[in-house]
Amino acid sequence: NITPWQSKNNFLSLFLNLYMGTKAVLCCPRILPTSVLILTAWKIHLRDKPSCTISLNRETNQTRKNNCTDGRISWASRPDQNPELQIHPVSISHEGDYTCQMGTTDGNFERTYHLQVLVSPEVTLSPGRNRTVECKAIAGRPAAQIFWAPEGDCVTGKEYQDNGTVTTRSRCHYPDGNVSTVTCLVSHPTGNRSLSIDLLPG
Ligand SMILES: *[C@@H]1O[C@H](CO)[C@@H](O)[C@H](O)[C@H]1NC(C)=O
Ligand SMILES: *[C@@H]1O[C@H](CO)[C@@H](O)[C@H](O)[C@H]1NC(C)=O
Ligand SMILES: *[C@@H]1O[C@H](CO)[C@@H](O)[C@H](O)[C@H]1NC(C)=O
Ligand SMILES: *[C@@H]1O[C@H](CO)[C@@H](O)[C@H](O)[C@H]1NC(C)=O
Ligand SMILES: *[C@@H]1O[C@H](CO)[C@@H](O)[C@H](O)[C@H]1NC(C)=O
Ligand SMILES: *[C@@H]1O[C@H](CO)[C@@H](O)[C@H](O)[C@H]1NC(C)=O
Repeated sequence: NITPWQSKNNFLSLFLNLYMGTKAVLCCPRILPTSVLILTAWKIHLRDKPSCTISLNRETNQTRKNNCTDGRISWASRPDQNPELQIHPVSISHEGDYTCQMGTTDGNFERTYHLQVLVSPEVTLSPGRNRTVECKAIAGRPAAQIFWAPEGDCVTGKEYQDNGTVTTRSRCHYPDGNVSTVTCLVSHPTGNRSLSIDLLPG
């Protein structure tokens, strides 16, 4: 007797953005009130790593097959009472797919999180000689996008750091003598920012 709403939500897929350094708790799907839970398993596929599993067999009340070696990923509390998964603290290496599978007497219920980790970039805007300015969005994740108002003759590039962050830099030249103030707009999932600066004379 699965209602359409529940049947539609048996297999749910969600995108989840988390800030680096925070504590995250991921929930399992809701099962029917009448269902008896047999097995709960978290299948975790981090980027560039083999997948690993943390599971609890409800019939024997035993945590079995826990081959996730990252100590920052664990049950949030007592899994026999609450099968939530905790990630603490969240780091860039935790990006990937997390699936909670619940095997019940009424079939399987599944919820998958596609987890992306956010790092807010540091934004700077500095004047250069000869009516140029440079805007930088330093060490953000994902890479920030830079726009200008008004638009000049711009060269924009990205630098990828070893720790997974990206620095976006854009240098613009304003040959038009009428333009005296320019604004750099940084677009990023952690929030958009804008900085303005006066062009140096001469
Ligand atoms: C965990 O176990 C599964 C199944 O036995 C295996 O496919 C996977 O590679 C293992 N993962 C790690 C990180 O050892
Ligand atoms: C399951 O195991 C936990 C911890 O080992 C124990 O506290 C709990 O009472 C057990 N529950 C059942 C239903 O056996
Ligand atoms: C200044 O900008 C002008 C116009 O684009 C260019 O011709 C000139 O070479 C630049 N001078 C310097 C020092 O960059
Ligand atoms: C990543 O590396 C860059 C450059 O070395 C540094 O500025 C930044 O703070 C680092 N960020 C994180 C999240 O480790
Ligand atoms: C710049 O100034 C000139 C002369 O005053 C004018 O004709 C031109 O439209 C101006 N350009 C802009 C972009 O405002
Ligand atoms: C940030 O800027 C982008 C591009 O201009 C826009 O699509 C997005 O809606 C903005 N986000 C917020 C939170 O204002």
